[in-house]
Amino acid sequence: MTLFEQKSNEFISRHIGPNEAETKSMLTTIGVSSIDDLISKTVPASIRMNHELNIPAAMSEHEYLKHIKEISLKNKVYANYIGQGYYDTIIPSVILRNIFENPGWYTQYTPYQAEISQGRLESLLNFQTMVSDLTGLPIANASLLDEATAAAEAMTMFFNFLNRQDHVERPKFFVDTDVFPQTKDVLLTRALPVGIEVIEASYKNAMPDSSWFGAIVQYPNDKGSIEDYREFVSKVHAAGAYVAMSTDLLALTLLTSPGELGADVAVGSAQRFGVPIGYGGPHAAFFAARDEFKRNIPGRIIGVSIDAYGNRALRMALQTREQHIKREKATSNICTAQALLANMAAMYAVYHGPAGLKNIAKRVATLTQTVAESIEQRGFELVSQNFFDTIVVKTGELAAIKAKAERQQINLRYIDSNHIGISLDETTGIDDLYDLINCFENDKDPVAFDIEQDEDLQHIPVSLKRHSPFLTHPVFNTHHSESQMMRYIKMLENKDLSLNTSMISLGSCTMKLNAASEMIPLSWAHWSKIHPFVPKDQAEGYETIVSELSKYLCEITAFDACSLQPNSGAQGEYAGLLTIKRYHESRGDKNRNVMLIPISAHGTNPASAVMAGMKVVVVKALENGYIDIEDLKAKAQQYSAILSGIMITYPSTYGVYEETVKEITAIIHQHGGQVYMDGANMNAQVGLTAPGLIGADVCHLNLHKTFAIPHGGGGPGMGPICVKKHLADHLPGHINEDVSGNNAGSKKLKALYLLRLMDRPVSC
Ligand SMILES: Cc1ncc(COP(=O)(O)O)c(C=O)c1O
Repeated sequence: MTLFEQKSNEFISRHIGPNEAETKSMLTTIGVSSIDDLISKTVPASIRMNHELNIPAAMSEHEYLKHIKEISLKNKVYANYIGQGYYDTIIPSVILRNIFENPGWYTQYTPYQAEISQGRLESLLNFQTMVSDLTGLPIANASLLDEATAAAEAMTMFFNFLNRQDHVERPKFFVDTDVFPQTKDVLLTRALPVGIEVIEASYKNAMPDSSWFGAIVQYPNDKGSIEDYREFVSKVHAAGAYVAMSTDLLALTLLTSPGELGADVAVGSAQRFGVPIGYGGPHAAFFAARDEFKRNIPGRIIGVSIDAYGNRALRMALQTREQHIKREKATSNICTAQALLANMAAMYAVYHGPAGLKNIAKRVATLTQTVAESIEQRGFELVSQNFFDTIVVKTGELAAIKAKAERQQINLRYIDSNHIGISLDETTGIDDLYDLINCFENDKDPVAFDIEQDEDLQHIPVSLKRHSPFLTHPVFNTHHSESQMMRYIKMLENKDLSLNTSMISLGSCTMKLNAASEMIPLSWAHWSKIHPFVPKDQAEGYETIVSELSKYLCEITAFDACSLQPNSGAQGEYAGLLTIKRYHESRGDKNRNVMLIPISAHGTNPASAVMAGMKVVVVKALENGYIDIEDLKAKAQQYSAILSGIMITYPSTYGVYEETVKEITAIIHQHGGQVYMDGANMNAQVGLTAPGLIGADVCHLNLHKTFAIPHGGGGPGMGPICVKKHLADHLPGHINEDVSGNNAGSKKLKALYLLRLMDRPVSC
């Protein structure tokens, strides 16, 4: 190897632990002569990949950083006023440096072992307390994947609470017209397979009856309007149904809480609490509910307990990993969520405290009021006079305003040809208002004018002003200096085991690498400040990454097309199963709904299958953990006419590469089924074999397990799916994908399965 080749190979030697002598000693201990010998004895020859992966040669870390910087510069950082659930935010430097950029926080695994996780458990408990206080609801979970998924979880929780699995008396779910469009799409996607009927109308004219099980409204709504839902909530309750409110934590510092308005559940995104927009995620969603739902809340809940010595101790409690116990009776498949981002949001609240948060909210509201009044003075009309940070302007001059905004590198939200949305955030300063207001000046060039500030917030209705206290716990009222905050973060970090303490010997699926070089670009503005709904030509860097990554994942899996949308492995399962379902339906096979699942499968597999409207039939395992082929054959035969497919994990959860895998996939195909491969153990396949080589049709990859996404104490997750050619047309799409980045004239191309805003399906 030349000196220069050595440089490119440096990454491997820096990040793969065992040296030559140690490797030799391990091989001798298990009685094999070399790594090749070990592989040939464990990976069946019939499924071995007999070529090198066709992906570019490795770079050195220095070259990589230069490369990723160049790509980032293809993204354009404009001033964003698009809103729609995503707002710029100021990450306090003490949190950026000590959490976001600190392996003591981003390399931790899911806190199953409470004794080595008290630090991150306390931070997640802070997240729950913050959400519970602000929403006015007594119990909250430790984060979900995104706002839209959280809304869908609320819908299915209500549905299952009021209906029995075999007897649906209340099929209807009401969605107010002014819920965010992306949330509506995910609700529709999740509703269809399980037989929920979604009705969309204005809450003002709604007539709830006994066919409803629930409803959702947005507070403040999609157009920024602050509506009083009290009467609507009473009507829904009188009909025996429940209400979820999608809401905004910053607005709630000034507004009466959903709990006080009568809501049963509140959901939303905690992104604007110090988490970068990053072209749409990952961000922590939140979910809070009334006490009666405590055994039905999706995701993880951190509880206060006592240890063996009687001391206060924290642990995951209640619905933890509910799929593992309830399996096909589980009502949610959420496993990995967004722990790292939830920790950042919680620390943002700890650092600012209740008064600090209120000040931020007041500043945003004051500037929004200033913009609104200035625009009205220029002859425009607003859709609502009650608002916090978002206004919608009625106009017949959209094209001229848009042209002027673009000249000033400003993105507004072009809702349709007559409406423009403007959302402010904590990064907006008084100076920015001149450019913004100038877009509405009846003049081609910017003109000079004065701005009058009025700190008396006149657009928050008196009847909806917040009077109840929040964040009264000492943790939110102590750590307001940088030194104190730094010490608090360090104190929690020191209680935990992370990769900066030692190796963590948990199962194969979680053993992964987070090189510092892979993490560094995340905080660069050209990646972190891009709004998910910017025009495509402002996000060319992201598009490059999306198409390159999709291509590499197709090569690694031996598949033909890829969607990066799912936010976790379990969401990948769900998206993959819907892809299979749509494929069968497209061929007129509408009754294929039986999914065979080995008894040894991870709990999310049966949970996802039920969510996709499938019936789970369990396949037995032999004593050595192998799938029982005779049982499989019998069941495939029995359900042949209605077989949708099988879900297998490879290598299995016992860690074995079953030689029978090709026979298994052939049996399923003979009976017209499709093969879903759970890719959680993909670590053990890359470069040696591939899902496409074992006969699978679709698989997910947990990028937080096999590739570079940090595990972060239980998230962020990322579960892209790859498929064979015949399934490519059935991959998820996105409501905004056909409109060059803004939603003027948006029309839906495909049903949206799941929400991961940055990505569109890519054929490779
Ligand atoms: C075998 C297997 N399948 C699926 C999943 C679910 O993936 P995620 O936690 O990313 O939703 C896991 C995660 O623990 C797993 O180990």
